[in-house]
Amino acid sequence: MSNQPLLNQIAEEVKTCKKCVLCKRAKNAVPGEGNPNAKIMLIGEAPGKREDLTGRPFVGAAGKLLDSVLEKAGIRREDIFIGNIAKHRPPDNRAPKPDEIEACAPYLDRQIKIIKPEIIVSLGTHSSKYILEKAGLEFTTISEARGKVFDGSALGAGIRIMPSFHPAAVIYNRKLGKTMEKDFGKIRKELRYSALNIVVTHYSYAHRNQEAGKEEKVLPCPFFQERQEGKESKVLSGNEFDKSGAGRKEEACGKNNKRKDKAAGNNPRPAPLYARKRGDCGD
Ligand code: URA
Repeated sequence: MSNQPLLNQIAEEVKTCKKCVLCKRAKNAVPGEGNPNAKIMLIGEAPGKREDLTGRPFVGAAGKLLDSVLEKAGIRREDIFIGNIAKHRPPDNRAPKPDEIEACAPYLDRQIKIIKPEIIVSLGTHSSKYILEKAGLEFTTISEARGKVFDGSALGAGIRIMPSFHPAAVIYNRKLGKTMEKDFGKIRKELRYSALNIVVTHYSYAHRNQEAGKEEKVLPCPFFQERQEGKESKVLSGNEFDKSGAGRKEEACGKNNKRKDKAAGNNPRPAPLYARKRGDCGD
């Protein structure tokens, strides 16, 4: 089943949710929106005034700032998914309370589980604390955590998280803007080095060559097999990933292979594998 109907189902539930008091004063629920197959998922805190009026995340002043940071980082808003921990606006834009987060966060968890983003960018203290702790990692302060990439495990899969400042904090203190831009500048690099990309690159490379009638050995892909069997993919350490054979350095990108590729008129092999990453090469 494609992800969109599953996300729509959550959105419908959110719209009629009465699990905490926030729904009482809110005009609209803000379930979250974006690409159902996003590799990047942004998590904010809770809707503000404009979001409450429109039912869409990050469309007010903070949203404008976020759009500009995304643009500078070369990330298109339509390619990502944006959600919040709390789906209804808290009165006077206060932070959501622990019991409200507890009531509402399962919707976000389900969205993460469906989308399986390669990286989650948590915006600000509340969302960073929530998602890092969910992944079994420690959260100290946003100033300390921001810009760092954390690998953890949550919701039955590996999860990669990079906290950054909340756009509203940047509006309040413009000096943080450059730092936020620097953090966002890292996101695409993280995707480029992810094992998923390496595997996908290898597979498209191998299949292109096969289609062109060239002899090509397709490396075994345990993640794809796991997926076919309906199992959750898991994060592998760099070593485990190498051992799995899905992205063996010497097979995929050794110098000799590069020379061989060139001589045979094949496409160059994928870049070296650095990352430990969610293994899921089915799409
Ligand atoms: N701030 C958030 O945390 N989320 C929004 O959707 C808008 C502002």
